Amino acid sequence: MAEVTAVASSVMAPDPRGINRGAAPVTYGHGERAPRGDYAQANADYTCEQDWRTYSAADHDLYRRLHERQAAQLPGLACEEFIAAVEQLGSPSQIPRFDALSEKLRRATGWEVVAVPGLIPEEAFFSLLSRRRFPVTGWIRKPEEFDYVVEPDVFHDLFGHVPLLFNPMFADYMQAYGAGGLKASRLGSCEHLARLYWYTVEFGMIATPAGLRAYGAGILSSAGELRYSVNSSAPQRLGFDLERIMRTRYKIDSYQSTYFVIDSFKQLFDATAPDFGPIYQRVAGHVELAADDRLPTDRVF
Ligand code: PHE
Ligand code: FE
Repeated sequence: MAEVTAVASSVMAPDPRGINRGAAPVTYGHGERAPRGDYAQANADYTCEQDWRTYSAADHDLYRRLHERQAAQLPGLACEEFIAAVEQLGSPSQIPRFDALSEKLRRATGWEVVAVPGLIPEEAFFSLLSRRRFPVTGWIRKPEEFDYVVEPDVFHDLFGHVPLLFNPMFADYMQAYGAGGLKASRLGSCEHLARLYWYTVEFGMIATPAGLRAYGAGILSSAGELRYSVNSSAPQRLGFDLERIMRTRYKIDSYQSTYFVIDSFKQLFDATAPDFGPIYQRVAGHVELAADDRLPTDRVF
């Protein structure tokens, strides 16, 4: 669902074979589950081959069903920029080939997608983003995970994240986020920065003349949360506020109780352009907020 959250709590396991051939596996949470991808095949920067021929007919069919279910419910719920770009993914009848997709992306915004075995450490993640390379998990979920998968798979990463990389302003934001992540690592502020990723790249909403729409990949790749985020009266929807977001914890195992709403991708880019150094310091001096807290200063939609 979210690279940054996941990697923030990732466990770097030692190579069991004692040789340093592949990259160390990264698992979600406390490392009790075996990593799903083959980290032994990854390069030091965690990229690997997509190995497209190893997908089975059942894998392609599952991808097609995921894509079709999701594409059908985009109108009225997803932002127009996403809807316009989703067809760039090509025919959903097969899992897209990353190299063909990268061709198109390079022409549009200079981005490319690279395969990774799954979750990767945050430094590796930030470094790829800062070079306009978006890491996409190679494996696809199992059929019984059709409605929910704990870790990001190829459907979440591709369908959720890649379309907006065709949008120039969002594409620049993602690169700036990567560069900012490298800086946050040096400053020990990755947790604060991860919240920004969570509440924008993964679960962001945008105000449009037609109403609120989703642009976050976690929403857009979720069968149920897409409708919930736009139509349910349960969650609160608050105006984008950088420092407020950095203070706000989030839930990784349920629909969000708060969504933050931007007015435009330009607003998002501009609001995150200033040096975060002093901002991290200020935020560290404030109490943290629960995912469902409400402040008198919140702009409520
Ligand atoms: N301006 C941020 C910094 O100085 C970099 C950044 C940009 C971080 C966009 C996130 C998103 O660290
Ligand atoms: Fe994600």
